[in-house]
Amino acid sequence: MSCDSSGYGERRCGDVVLRATAVGKHYDTERGPLRVLSHVDLEVRQGEMVSVMGASGVGKSTLLYVLGTLDQPTRGQLEIRGTDVMRLSEPELAAFRNRHIGFVFQFHYLLPEFTALENVLMPVLICGENMEAGREEALRLMERVGLTDRLHHRPTEMSGGECQRVAVVRSLIRRPEVVLADEPSGNLDEATSEVLHDLITELAQAYQQAFIIMTHDRGLAERANRMALLEGGRLHFSGTPDGRRTES
Ligand SMILES: Nc1ncnc2c1ncn2[C@@H]1O[C@H](COP(=O)(O)OP(=O)(O)O)[C@@H](O)[C@H]1O
Ligand SMILES: [Mg+2]
Repeated sequence: MSCDSSGYGERRCGDVVLRATAVGKHYDTERGPLRVLSHVDLEVRQGEMVSVMGASGVGKSTLLYVLGTLDQPTRGQLEIRGTDVMRLSEPELAAFRNRHIGFVFQFHYLLPEFTALENVLMPVLICGENMEAGREEALRLMERVGLTDRLHHRPTEMSGGECQRVAVVRSLIRRPEVVLADEPSGNLDEATSEVLHDLITELAQAYQQAFIIMTHDRGLAERANRMALLEGGRLHFSGTPDGRRTES
């Protein structure tokens, strides 16, 4: 099935890499179950960017955690690269997540005692992969995001925007097929956000990764192939078949 015929716009999109079916999630609280997601259906293809907007407290982070296998859905199915991830044991899941899923959060969560380059290389180190190849890729990506002269700076010696760019590079270093971003520019000023949005859009296309972005930022949301509103525990797609602004 071609992306164009199914309304995915002009970008080339490949196979489905993430499929959530009838996903529900409630939290058990002292006052009983708090239902956050009631029925989420979502298919995301290779190279496709999907944005999810929604009011604060509506469940965007919850959805991101569930899709990223960091939290279990209460019901429904989740398949990533054809693997039923809900059947994996905790160690299998951790390995799967490390290999195939990248995360970008609102706060960069860089490790303060390490330099930018060391932070970027952390996933390579943790996965026991070839450090030399990792280092080459890190240098290339850091150059791509304009941080060649910040390689040996620690997070406290960099601006918020620089730290966030380092965090994006760290999330992409192992080329995960799925990248989940939770308010990636929520903490940045407008000009810095714009730089980060350019970066995310370009890298997603260059590496043909599936990006799912939870954001308040309409400008970022509109860069996606498809836009959804999370409301009432469901995703409502407005569709941006050719990237034009849509009514919401
Ligand atoms: N661990 C938790 N236990 C209980 N309630 C939670 C927990 N995490 C989030 N919530 C509640 O779930 C709802 C959705 O939260 P969240 O996913 O963080 O929303 P958003 O990211 O859209 O702001 C909120 O009402 C929040 O208070
Ligand atoms: Mg949130």
